Amino acid sequence: MADGNRDKNQEFDITATAQWQALAEHQPEVAALHLRDVFAEDPNRGDELTVDVGDLHIDYSKQRVLRETLTKLVDLARAADVEGKRDAMFAGEHINNTEDRAVLHTALRLPADATLSVDGQDVVGDVHEVLDRMGAFTDALRSGEWKGYTGKPIETVINIGIGGSDLGPAMVYQALRHYVTGSIHCRFVSNVDPADLVATLDGLDPETTLFIVASKTFTTLETITNASAARQWLVKALGSDDAVSKHFVAVSTNAEKVSEFGIDTANMFEFWDWVGGRYSVDSAIGLSVMAAIGKEAFGEFLAGFHIVDDHFRTAPLEANAPVLLGLIGLWYDNFWNVASRVVLPYSNDMSRFSAYLQQLTMESNGKSVTKSGDHVTADTGEVFWGEPGTNGQHAFYQLLHQGTRMIPSDFIGFATATDDLPVLSASDDPLTAQSDGSMHDLLMSNYFAQTKVLAFGKTAEEVAAEGVEERLVPHQVMPGNRPSTSIMSHELTPSVVGQLIALYEHQVFVAGAIWGINSFDQWGVQLGKSQAKELLSVITSADSPAAQSDSSTDALVRWYRKQRGR
Ligand code: F6P
Repeated sequence: MADGNRDKNQEFDITATAQWQALAEHQPEVAALHLRDVFAEDPNRGDELTVDVGDLHIDYSKQRVLRETLTKLVDLARAADVEGKRDAMFAGEHINNTEDRAVLHTALRLPADATLSVDGQDVVGDVHEVLDRMGAFTDALRSGEWKGYTGKPIETVINIGIGGSDLGPAMVYQALRHYVTGSIHCRFVSNVDPADLVATLDGLDPETTLFIVASKTFTTLETITNASAARQWLVKALGSDDAVSKHFVAVSTNAEKVSEFGIDTANMFEFWDWVGGRYSVDSAIGLSVMAAIGKEAFGEFLAGFHIVDDHFRTAPLEANAPVLLGLIGLWYDNFWNVASRVVLPYSNDMSRFSAYLQQLTMESNGKSVTKSGDHVTADTGEVFWGEPGTNGQHAFYQLLHQGTRMIPSDFIGFATATDDLPVLSASDDPLTAQSDGSMHDLLMSNYFAQTKVLAFGKTAEEVAAEGVEERLVPHQVMPGNRPSTSIMSHELTPSVVGQLIALYEHQVFVAGAIWGINSFDQWGVQLGKSQAKELLSVITSADSPAAQSDSSTDALVRWYRKQRGR
């Protein structure tokens, strides 16, 4: 089926292939095995079912796969021409066929001496020109050379954006808390709920605040509404419209709309239609991050992505981290009828990572038709969710351990703490007493314990042998056999954050390529937006509104209008 000459946008039914069938037939065999037996039969898998890429050490040995399963999954990837599709993406072919666009977030992290020309345009030159402008601007902010309207240096940068124009920078800013150098601190506003803007502006001095209005299209309701409200706040405080040029810059692909909004396009940082919103944190959308950590650290962040890009582009599928992890996700999604994956960073600084991944993965792969417009014949789109460990342990891990559903998990952990504190335990808790005094070691002992317990559990015999009352034995049995991947790195550095993001970006690509869907459009968000516009006039009109199409929405609107005195 793999055919280098095949149109990359013309899809076929992957579920009709022999490779798919082979996996379907293989699944019951694996499902009948417990990870305890799998490890007993294949004792080296803990050392061997691992892959190292850049600074990431990835162990997928606790997944419910045999070596044979992996071979079959890779066969499926080849049948779907994942390699050809991947190469088409890196080459700038218009693989986003519904919008007729290239998909080139990987070009955002190419080094300056790389070459890539797409549709007659020197992409690398364009990218680095904008990076240089971002560098000059953030240098001026950080040094205090850029002054606000009243002559004071900027202290707070507020990024106003939503979706891909918010989640990436907000997540990375938090993850790289320790790399914030200089005096610029960032805040993020996204929700059209006024509570977001009001709470974010609380306590800020307009004279030392600068807004980055970040929007690929510059038409997004939430962002334009928040930006207008922020401008009003600023102008009211500083007494003149002239203040806007010193306190507002834009990041967008749409110069016309930026200028209509009243931001001088000299203060606009550009990106391009070949960067999807959810793939844009490494474009000018990362301006707030650069302002906080500086252009050098931002360069390291980009270099991290590039390490994984190169690996994804060149490593054989059998040893290719995003390919293997994407395939394992698909294995559960399609052959085990498992719908979700939980991502558990044992790093408080990565608290927003799951939220970030939700847009990346679910907006990309939540599709029901193939690129050819045919209905898919297998489920698509894993549901991603998660919380940092150990908080999740005291919330939803009960279901992970003993619930009836199998939820595969990705554990992310670091050898070196971003912060560490001594354990000053006055108690005789054996756990803390055994520790050498590091809270980080305590955190990581939980990381290892959870993956171990999920995989191997505790049998009824083991529980009973501890002298547990017979009636309580079934309640204390830990079934185990719950799969996880352990992703580890030495430290949460800018480069490692870039590597982690790219690791997930390319997993999304792999699964999307096999399903034959377009992972780079998002038509499903449009209807809600247009109906909200229509309903705004319905809920606010002075006259009794005309009936809507259904009795539920009608009744809800009537109820709301009554509460609002209309
Ligand atoms: O929710 C849809 C969406 O278009 C996302 O894909 C995007 O990241 C977000 O809205 C924000 O869009 P923009 O950057 O154009 O304001």
